[in-house]
Amino acid sequence: MNATSVIDRRRILGAAACAALVPLAATANAGALVGAAAMKEDFLADSRYRDALIRHCDVIVPMNDLKWEAVHPERNRFNFEDADRLLDFAREHGKSTRGHALLWYNAMPSWTREIASTREAERELRRHIEQVAGRYAGKITSWDVVNEVLSHDPAAQGTFRDTLWRRWLGAEQVDLAFRAASQADPKAELVFNDYDFEFRNPRCARRREETLAIVRRLQDRKISIHAVGLQCHIYGEQEIDRDGLARFSESLARLGIGVLVTELDVIDWKMPADIAERDRLAAAKVDELLGALASGGPIRQIISWGITDRYSWIRETFPRPDGRPNRPLPLDENYRPKPMHAAIGRFRKKA
Ligand code: XIL
Repeated sequence: MNATSVIDRRRILGAAACAALVPLAATANAGALVGAAAMKEDFLADSRYRDALIRHCDVIVPMNDLKWEAVHPERNRFNFEDADRLLDFAREHGKSTRGHALLWYNAMPSWTREIASTREAERELRRHIEQVAGRYAGKITSWDVVNEVLSHDPAAQGTFRDTLWRRWLGAEQVDLAFRAASQADPKAELVFNDYDFEFRNPRCARRREETLAIVRRLQDRKISIHAVGLQCHIYGEQEIDRDGLARFSESLARLGIGVLVTELDVIDWKMPADIAERDRLAAAKVDELLGALASGGPIRQIISWGITDRYSWIRETFPRPDGRPNRPLPLDENYRPKPMHAAIGRFRKKA
């Protein structure tokens, strides 16, 4: 917590509300656990990748191996082998782990297309969560319980994305997933995870409001939820809504809900070609983002979606028009820390 954000909060909230924020400010230096999502293929192939995970992470997240497609390839078959390689490695090196994700619409195995009723959807979702979160109870300490349930543009498309889960369960998908996760592992941190909260536009503002409403709905129903995960795939060319994010993290804190950054990277497709300039701007964006989010109290975890520019989904999904390699992550392609690494480090919990 720095002086500027306290002043911002006074301005936004008024003096009366401010008294209630003192305890948050007092804990604001506690800092985040820092980590990265890891790709199994790169992890297995590249010893420098493994070394980087050991050296730079407090937390390791299997990037794809706990998605339905990987872990539940057939209706009556689960496969934990791939996830276990990464999770065992993490444990051997004293790292904590997060799970991603118990309910998503993407990376679904083909058998789920056969689901054809509310009862069946409920049964399969519950069983999946029991099996997966149950298996790792006491081991994976934080779960993305639902991922990307909000529609891209809730004002135009309604709150929930049009998916298998919305079709059969509507808003209950969220209740059911959190209830099942809490039963499967009563001690895990249960997280609502989604994207596009951070830019200055009405769509992101609306997504923050929808999220707060979902949190309140769960709390009204006495269903456990502990944190909101902001993916934070940051478009380098867009403006961060600092006030909006500060207010969001403060509203969450007042509800007793923490904040995690779960999939941080900087989408640099429209950023300057010059490398030093691009890296500097990317770090400044990350600093702005994290500074605003820390306004409600310490960010619990800051996870980047990968660790080195050598391997990143951004290279395929958001290639630069000039054909130069993307630089979305904290380490460059030769595993050297970039300014973004230092920007994250400023919010890291002191050992
Ligand atoms: C991405 C992975 O990084 C890729 O390796 C995979 O091919 C597709 O999924 N939001 C999410 C993540 O919640 O699961 C996605 O991960 C990136 C966007």
